[in-house]
Amino acid sequence: MEVGLQRTFVGDEIAPVRVKEFLDEADEFSLLMMRYNCAIREVRTKLEVLNDELSVIGQHNPIEAIKSRVKKSESIADKLLRRGKPLTVESIETNLNDVAGVRVICSFMDDIYQVARMLAVQDDITVLEVKDYIKHPKTNGYRSYHMIVEIPVFFSDVKRSMRVEIQIRTIAMDFWSTLEHQVRYKKAIPNTEFIVGRLKECSDTIAKTDREMMEIRNYIQGS
Ligand code: GTP
Ligand code: MG
Repeated sequence: MEVGLQRTFVGDEIAPVRVKEFLDEADEFSLLMMRYNCAIREVRTKLEVLNDELSVIGQHNPIEAIKSRVKKSESIADKLLRRGKPLTVESIETNLNDVAGVRVICSFMDDIYQVARMLAVQDDITVLEVKDYIKHPKTNGYRSYHMIVEIPVFFSDVKRSMRVEIQIRTIAMDFWSTLEHQVRYKKAIPNTEFIVGRLKECSDTIAKTDREMMEIRNYIQGS
């Protein structure tokens, strides 16, 4: 038998499985996920630096919380299949923008734009795409500011540009989208249109509250 070749059964057929290729691909996958994790750390540090500085200069912390995650392998496979892309490690980097995800929860609506602007002007960050679902909410009421950025990460022998999806939203927008996500993924939802309508109403109420909170803060600060 050829080295690195094993025979295994797939259905009724005997299919060759290239063990070495499989292991190499698995190693490549781990390496890539490690790189995405490092890119997330870089972005988190940038955000923490901005928050520290702005909280000294200003009167509040613009960032309430930072959450991050690397997309699970199952979700990566689902998305590649859904888009008709190959299931390879190379394809992940080429075709997906959201393997590394950072979510920034801001206190007030104007903090979102301030944080986004301050990230975008940093000369090692390249903004590839912006979707402003705050100025243009989705029809279901989803509000959030999305950026796809590219950030260099320095490894032992190579500098890699890694893509990271950054979602910036207020506490209220995060509250809505977290609950909407939970509701949406529940099976057999009765009266769907009615539910969608009510969720949209909640989103509008929340947006109004966000605007009012900002006005109240401005009033108190005398700006
Ligand atoms: P995806 O294929 O879902 O990544 O969409 P996309 O690549 O067109 O990007 P988009 O900016 O529209 O959405 C990216 C991410 O934003 C999603 O993966 C979700 O985390 C979040 N998101 C977008 N739309 C909604 C929504 O209607 N509800 C909630 N809860 N989250 C949303
Ligand atoms: Mg996405």
